[in-house]
Amino acid sequence: MSENNLSVPIARDIGGLRAAVRNWRRQGLRIALVPTMGALHAGHLALAQEARKRAERTVVSIFVNPAQFAPNEDFARYPRNLESDRAILQNAGSADLIYAPGAADLYPDGFATRIVVDGPARGLESDFRGHFFTGVATVVAKLFVQCRPDFAMFGEKDYQQLLVVRRLSIDLDLGVDVIGVPTVRESDGLALSSRNAYLGPEQRTIAGALNRVLDSVAERARAGVSIPQAEAEGAAALISAGFDRVDYVAVRDAWSLAHLPAFTGPARVLAAARIGNLRLIDNKPV
Ligand code: PAF
Repeated sequence: MSENNLSVPIARDIGGLRAAVRNWRRQGLRIALVPTMGALHAGHLALAQEARKRAERTVVSIFVNPAQFAPNEDFARYPRNLESDRAILQNAGSADLIYAPGAADLYPDGFATRIVVDGPARGLESDFRGHFFTGVATVVAKLFVQCRPDFAMFGEKDYQQLLVVRRLSIDLDLGVDVIGVPTVRESDGLALSSRNAYLGPEQRTIAGALNRVLDSVAERARAGVSIPQAEAEGAAALISAGFDRVDYVAVRDAWSLAHLPAFTGPARVLAAARIGNLRLIDNKPV
């Protein structure tokens, strides 16, 4: 019996993906893509559920993309378990196909192209992970071209990534409507992330402070406290809560992520902070 008889089918190469997509297109069905690196949790399922509302067919891609990890990051130990991811999608009934390509499907021998995004990619994450958005933009562009979806779902948890991918799709005429999906949170407000699995019990308690600090920075900015002051208070509050290092707490324009001289319109507060070697990011609307 083939592995595809029991559960959500898996396409392990571009050929399998394209055959499924071609078949759906012939039937006039719309397709949504949920790009992931696996280690699926309720946040990913929220993306897939949103996909279901917009399209008749949902493809969940699972690929741990080496190009977005720096040499000192966790590429080697990033959790990988295709069968448990498949069971999660099967139980939720939220995927029609898993696309789990090999590295050669994304980066064939001699691969020499990189996509560099400016605009929303400037600053914030890029100041600390210089390679990151080029790696994300390159793999996402490839996934879009391989799958040619009508929609692609991205979590607001990675807010800067969402804006970068939206820019990418517009700028390269990829024709994919990039949909942002609200962050799913634990009961103390911690944003779900595959990397939360790395947190020990004490670190987990500290981690819960991040979203509360973001709420208080947003509230201070709305109350008319100057943006640099609200940001500095937020960074100090994270250190008091037990974070070892704050990479940034920043109130930015919600659409361009440009610096704001003052809080006047739609804004977003974004933060990245570290507990030991672990780096957490989160954001909230202001
Ligand atoms: O957000 C992620 O999981 C990854 O950055 C993505 C979008 C799947 C690209 O590898």
